[in-house]
Amino acid sequence: MAHPVRASDTPFAVAVEQGKDYWWCACGLSKTQPFCDGSHNAAREFTPVKYTASESKTVHFCGCKGTARQPLCDGSHKQAG
Ligand code: FES
Repeated sequence: MAHPVRASDTPFAVAVEQGKDYWWCACGLSKTQPFCDGSHNAAREFTPVKYTASESKTVHFCGCKGTARQPLCDGSHKQAG
């Protein structure tokens, strides 16, 4: 199984809007991190993960792509190398 590309060493803080859908990049190849730009088509094994904002607030999307709480940061970037 392929591993995702580590897009960032820290999470991405994003102000999301209630009721809006966001597509988190799981492969790490997107040029518009933390969101999908279609680059995963080349990676094949990865597809974006949908996040629907339940309220308007700032959330931290995973940047290292190693989170177990996709698409949100779980602190894995502090351990992954
Ligand atoms: Fe990474 Fe779409 S570009 S999942």
